[in-house]
Amino acid sequence: MRRALLAVVLVVAGCTSGGPAPAPSPSTPSAPPSPAASGRFQPGAAGAGDPYYPTYGNGGYDVASYQLRLRYDPAGNRLTATATIVATATADLSRFNLDLAGLTVQSVTVDGTRAASARDGNELMITPARGLAKGTRFTVQVAYGGRPGPVNPRLGAGGFLHDDGEAVALGQPESASSWFPVNDHPSDKATYTVEVTVPEGVSAISNGVLAGRSTADGWTTWRWEERAPMASYLATLAVGEYRVITGEHNDGKPVVTAVDSSLPAGGPADRAMARTTEIADFLATQFGPYPFDAYGGIVVDDTRVNYALETQSRPVYGPSFFLGPGDATWVVAHELAHQWFGDSVSVQRWQDLWLNEGFASYAEWLWAEHESGYPVEQAFLDEYERSGDEVWQVPPGDPGVENLFSRSVYKRGAMTLHVLRKTLGDDAFFRMLKEWPAQKRNGNATTAEFIAFAEQIAGTSLRSLFDAWLYQKSKPPLPQ
Ligand code: TRP
Ligand code: ZN
Repeated sequence: MRRALLAVVLVVAGCTSGGPAPAPSPSTPSAPPSPAASGRFQPGAAGAGDPYYPTYGNGGYDVASYQLRLRYDPAGNRLTATATIVATATADLSRFNLDLAGLTVQSVTVDGTRAASARDGNELMITPARGLAKGTRFTVQVAYGGRPGPVNPRLGAGGFLHDDGEAVALGQPESASSWFPVNDHPSDKATYTVEVTVPEGVSAISNGVLAGRSTADGWTTWRWEERAPMASYLATLAVGEYRVITGEHNDGKPVVTAVDSSLPAGGPADRAMARTTEIADFLATQFGPYPFDAYGGIVVDDTRVNYALETQSRPVYGPSFFLGPGDATWVVAHELAHQWFGDSVSVQRWQDLWLNEGFASYAEWLWAEHESGYPVEQAFLDEYERSGDEVWQVPPGDPGVENLFSRSVYKRGAMTLHVLRKTLGDDAFFRMLKEWPAQKRNGNATTAEFIAFAEQIAGTSLRSLFDAWLYQKSKPPLPQ
């Protein structure tokens, strides 16, 4: 579900990353009518063309929906699954790739016809019986299974984390390929249906709305629907013994929170989850209407998850946030702010991550002011004084892969927004905070687009502001 303009950007980026030349090569008039063998049809690129992560995602098609049918036994970490993927070719394809880490593929069909497939590392290469002409909508079905595991451990524990009869799938900047075949890049957002069958008594929590739950022969199937387009790294699945609380918010939308049963009942995790809608409602006063069909959160009890992640409509929180006596609402405010910034408006390329983390960090300051009267201005000044070289030497607008999740991206990103606020004035700034997610809702964005948007609101160039705060390797002076 990427928009036409963005598709063009991706194709261009794909060329620079060594993808196949899009120019058609001449085909002989007498060539046999096997499109896969003719020159017009070319393999889709093995990457989406992200400058920071060239191998992530793939080129040549645009996914509209994933339908995942999973049967998972958490005792033995055994997965049996089919994925049904509806996509549109954005080029004349002789073959195309999906990303899949580990696991075994049993069979692949394209539009119901058996397709050839081969594996090369985390790439699943699919050659349909006939080529797919640009603009064609097609359905891929992959039957697969095995014992899913972690991916990309260099970037913190992510992927499919199984331990002690429980499992959770999450991680950034990639994780989805650890549990289903996917175009694993945020530029290709899609809707999801996740149908998970687990032993009776075990919970299986995913994104969006719980559209059904039924039990037969000692197994329970949980059917989840995420109807708004979602970036693949925001898909999650938690399987285990959870205290699941379902309810309805005053806007009629369902609320599902799940806290691992091993965490103390009525403790800090339960209390923080219970404040989810209150915090979302506060953020809606700042950012405009909550962008999704459902609310919630999942608190896992796996110490490898030493972070939280803004998985769509249902963030996942590691256990460490809830060890102390406090309610740790700051992390809930952060992950819920991502529902607007990161989830509804997603990065087009990972370099622009400050568009997620800068806003989510700014939301922590807004929440702290609301909750405890600690002024945002003071939070900004404290951060400005406290920051050292690790912040000022790393430009949040182009931090480099090594520093993508660094303090600068979060805190200097938030400081950038506060300086923008001082420049625009409160009226225009808070108008901007609502209009940006409204305009980009369910889409993707780049920093250049944000700057253009802010300049439009300002009615003047903001070049020197953004240059100093996002792109220079030095400490900018405080605005006068
Ligand atoms: N994006 C997450 C947040 O800000 C935190 C995060 C950073 C993360 N790196 C990660 C999560 C790696 C999972 C994996 O809330
Ligand atoms: Zn964040």
